Amino acid sequence: MLKETLIQGQKAADAALERLLPAATQYPSSIHQAMRHSVFAGGKRLRPILCMESARMVSGTLPDGVDELGAAIEMLHTYSLVHDDLPALDNDDLRRGRPTCHKAFGEATAILAGDALQMQAYEVMARLRCPAEARVRIIEELAHGTGTIDGMIGGQVVDLESEHVRPDLPTLEYIHRAKTGALIVSSLLTGCYYAGAKVVEVQRVKEFGRAAGLAFQIADDILDVTQTSEQLGKTAGKDVAAEKVTYPALFGLEKAEEMAAQLIRTACSSLDSFGERASTLKEIARYLVERKK
Ligand code: IPE
Ligand code: IPE
Ligand code: MG
Ligand code: MG
Ligand code: MG
Repeated sequence: MLKETLIQGQKAADAALERLLPAATQYPSSIHQAMRHSVFAGGKRLRPILCMESARMVSGTLPDGVDELGAAIEMLHTYSLVHDDLPALDNDDLRRGRPTCHKAFGEATAILAGDALQMQAYEVMARLRCPAEARVRIIEELAHGTGTIDGMIGGQVVDLESEHVRPDLPTLEYIHRAKTGALIVSSLLTGCYYAGAKVVEVQRVKEFGRAAGLAFQIADDILDVTQTSEQLGKTAGKDVAAEKVTYPALFGLEKAEEMAAQLIRTACSSLDSFGERASTLKEIARYLVERKK
């Protein structure tokens, strides 16, 4: 059942991305090729899936056009990966099983491809087929979730500044919540807004996202030390090489796994009031920490 949800979600996100990204042949084609290289390299599409399933949980059925919101979120996520891999940041050669964007297209094009994915996401969001008020809230939420105050960019800044300096646990938790958790929360919340959720529903989904988002990055750190580059499609052992403080580095593998599992139990209990309708999101939450890549 979960497998089917993930496959269907990936298909819907991929089809929307195919429609909403400029064609590779569109002038100037180098940038469009670079954008497509990084987007269509086999990402799991977890953020679009979380967005769509949160909208489905709220409204009972999948709202028409929410796949386009999912695609915009995946563009934002892919932009963050393209820039994360740049020589000035993590300096990575491998992403989603392919050479990173700057390896394939050069650094200047990779920087611009990240910028372009970000702007394309906002153009798509401005055209979403939901009430204008919801559309504005969605745009605000994603701008904030990827921004500098408790958002993705803020997290990336503290992450980079903490290399080789052994941050304390509150700083580590801030990094994880901001660089990764915030976009996961925004994916879920914008799904709620698209579906017209009530204030109390939004609050419960936010609690779910905060716990699941932190657990997701703990799992990413665990996979970095337990899997091979081939399995991950990105360079394994990166965090150790950069002397990054991670949950497994701070607590050991077993304790880090237990902490992630506990966060997922907390996340799932936040959705209890949705009853049976929450079962898919709860299943996905367990997958976020049990995945192998
Ligand atoms: C990787 O995200 C970057 C993090 C925020 C940890 P994913 O593990 O979702 O990567 P893709 O999208 O499947 O490539
Ligand atoms: C990435 O964190 C967070 C982003 C905002 C992209 P990592 O640097 O640990 O992600 P990976 O391991 O390279 O995917
Ligand atoms: Mg990084
Ligand atoms: Mg990285
Ligand atoms: Mg990582």
